[in-house]
Amino acid sequence: MKPLRIALTKGRLEKATVELLEDIGLDCRSLRDKGRRLILPVGDGSLEAVLAKAADVITYVEHGVCDLGVVGKDTIMEHGSRFFEILDLGFGRCSFALAAPKGADFFGGYRVKTIATKYPKVARRFFQSRDMDVGIIKIEGSVELAPLLGLADGIVDIVETGTTLKENGLEVVERVADVSARLIVNAASLKLRKEEIETLAGQLEAAIAGRKERESR
Ligand code: PRP
Repeated sequence: MKPLRIALTKGRLEKATVELLEDIGLDCRSLRDKGRRLILPVGDGSLEAVLAKAADVITYVEHGVCDLGVVGKDTIMEHGSRFFEILDLGFGRCSFALAAPKGADFFGGYRVKTIATKYPKVARRFFQSRDMDVGIIKIEGSVELAPLLGLADGIVDIVETGTTLKENGLEVVERVADVSARLIVNAASLKLRKEEIETLAGQLEAAIAGRKERESR
């Protein structure tokens, strides 16, 4: 039987994902010593990891070339979900927030505000839920620059420690949503390889519950 293929988000979530896979007893030496390789065997070969950018994890799972994926809720909220989200993995915790220059009265006045963001759909939904008309400008990274340069009144972005906001004179105006890493599954894979996927998800769930219990002691 060919290995279950799991797409992992490169970068921020990578280390915690590897630690979780090791927690359930899978040999992840190939991932820890991957060099520039992008497809790596995990454990006894029953699992194969693919390293991809967050949005591409979703694309590969949606198209079924990967059975499973580990990706942040932020990316899921922006890119939609033609797949099943089956587990909150408990790491990669941060939040979506609306932020603006410190002391600015963001909601004051009648002028239509401009928002810079890597997540235009999330931002649009948030302001629609407020019945607030805003202009949205898509930025690819270091979004905090936009209000500093005078391009935007505020940003909708991920806040983890809050350091980037603080060091750039910005502050949270309102939290939009909580974010963490999720396990996602291709719909056909969930039918065709149900047992293997449920076994893996069950092991991960138990490891996460064990961690929570240890933390609460
Ligand atoms: C993310 C996010 C913020 C920063 C928040 O950016 O977009 O800029 O991290 O983290 P903090 O609250 O701990 O300071 P990332 O580092 O992923 O880079 P990017 O802005 O270039 O996408």
